Amino acid sequence: MLKTKIAVLVSGGGTNLQALIDAQKGGILKSGEITLVISNKENAYALQRAKDNGIKALYIKKDEDFEKNLVNELEKSGIQLIVLAGFLVILSENFVKRYPDRIINIHPSLIPSFCGDGFYGLKVHEAALKRGVKITGATTHFVNEITDGGKIIMQKAVEIKDNDTPEILQKRVMEEAEWKILPLSVEKISKDLSEN
Ligand code: GAR
Repeated sequence: MLKTKIAVLVSGGGTNLQALIDAQKGGILKSGEITLVISNKENAYALQRAKDNGIKALYIKKDEDFEKNLVNELEKSGIQLIVLAGFLVILSENFVKRYPDRIINIHPSLIPSFCGDGFYGLKVHEAALKRGVKITGATTHFVNEITDGGKIIMQKAVEIKDNDTPEILQKRVMEEAEWKILPLSVEKISKDLSEN
């Protein structure tokens, strides 16, 4: 069976990208192949991670042609599934509608808590601690025109401990939830796409 061609879009350190690369090497991600990594940040360490693993890595400047250039590159590489892994650009309705059920995002909370516009990265964990919730987690979902509003694919809960800081909590959510459910979700959707 042909593997689903995957592009991973990133803006930062790329630990979720690394989890996907490791899953590919370890055989957990077997129905899809990461063939392209794109960042809106020239110095994103995620781009280096891609290059270190022999994956095509591109920087696309966030200007008025950003989405046009993005679509060009995705089409040139025959991409079938797009994974947003710490990609902090909000994509337009126009772009999202081009790829129905073909864009996956990872969000560091249990949606519908602490999500939507303005909730990204450490801000999510700051909000969870401020509200005093005892359980948080991570969610993978399809991307539609509503920020963090698409159909949920997987969720995993993570305990909040006394004395957690946003940084400590972020690390625990990544280790216990994000790096596990993202590869599993990408494999599940890649498998569905490769069979259809
Ligand atoms: C991750 O925690 C991811 O869930 C979050 O940004 C971080 C990126 O880390 N994404 C969002 O907040 C999206 N709303 P990484 O670059 O090490 O994967």
